[in-house]
Amino acid sequence: MFAQRTINLNSSFIRDILAVTQQPDMISFAGGLPDPELFPVAALQQASMRMQQQLGNRLYQYSETPGLLPLRRHIAEQLADPEVHAEQIIITTGSQQGLDLVVRCLIDPGDKVLVEAPTYLGALQVLRANQATLISIPSDEQGPDLEALEAIVQREPIRCFYTVTDFQNPTGASYSLERRKGLTALAERYNFWILEDAPYSALRYSGDPLPSLQSLLPERVIHFGSFSKIIAPALRMGWISAPREVIKVVEKLKQAADLHSSGYDQQLVLSFLQSGALEPHLEQIRSAYGERLEAMATALTRNLSDSLHFTKPRGGMFIWATLTSNESTLELFRAAVAEGVAFVPGEAFYVNGESDNSMRLNFSNSSSAMIEEGIRRLATLINDSSRRENTASALAY
Ligand SMILES: Cc1ncc(COP(=O)(O)O)c(C=O)c1O
Repeated sequence: MFAQRTINLNSSFIRDILAVTQQPDMISFAGGLPDPELFPVAALQQASMRMQQQLGNRLYQYSETPGLLPLRRHIAEQLADPEVHAEQIIITTGSQQGLDLVVRCLIDPGDKVLVEAPTYLGALQVLRANQATLISIPSDEQGPDLEALEAIVQREPIRCFYTVTDFQNPTGASYSLERRKGLTALAERYNFWILEDAPYSALRYSGDPLPSLQSLLPERVIHFGSFSKIIAPALRMGWISAPREVIKVVEKLKQAADLHSSGYDQQLVLSFLQSGALEPHLEQIRSAYGERLEAMATALTRNLSDSLHFTKPRGGMFIWATLTSNESTLELFRAAVAEGVAFVPGEAFYVNGESDNSMRLNFSNSSSAMIEEGIRRLATLINDSSRRENTASALAY
């Protein structure tokens, strides 16, 4: 009844389980959400008033497909790599739309795309919807296994490699400089595109920033930025920066998709950025999220050092923790929800949903006190298998 491209579509596991985690008294480490208490509401209200006064009726008119030029200029000058020009930027309805447009621009059904194992679930959804053939590459705290990657690109034509280089969702891992250089060298040599998804890059809590893949190989890297984690996700504002020839085609696809992203929201973001509110806001959320990361890492080490291991990330919103036993975290998840704590079981982030003993723990949307209590609840379960079995079987959904 429906088109071929719908066959491999499945609803996001995370979105499905988020419903379960909305129950009162639940401590949820499941969503990938920024803390709403930290949204820059006052600065956005002022930005909104200013733009209403300045633009009046014009605020509500259609505008150009690639996005408002002053906004693209601001991104080029303040947020993108120094070599990127405004004409290389297109504003998208969240970076999620950017991914969809670029995948549609590059991928024919059956084309092979490399992803890391594990990787961002939303990218898997886009790639599946566009009928890409997915191949996963193992990766560690330093980035993807480049030998494994080269063995594949030598053997068969690969169209692109999708990656989150800074503070990955779900693992929190960031590429080392060596892997960045190694990957871009392979892309140049074997002629594949790199899709560099960077919504967390500005959320660094320690260590020095490393060059983006785009700065290392501008002609082969398509970079995705987002205001969701650094201002607010409801705005649905993101951008693509890419070589001009890619932008030209993406612009046509964007026009066909939605004519342009909301002009109102673009003006709001522009007005917010022009007021200079972003930098102090970033300082505030970096400090708050950095403290929560510390709280979670400390609580995990104190309560669970014998039963799971993790590498503390230097930024982002997630800790990826792996049980020392081979037990599936999907089972643990059911019991955890019954105990009032939630996380995302690792298998959601693998191409074939491989059973997995890892979990993604979000630390940005809970206070340090809630983090301590949530990890304590989790530890009670993990360290007591009989309790786990009893609570899991009591929960039906
Ligand atoms: C790695 C990654 N890419 C893209 C997105 C989507 O972001 P946006 O809200 O800009 O569409 C997310 C959201 O969680 C993400 O984690």
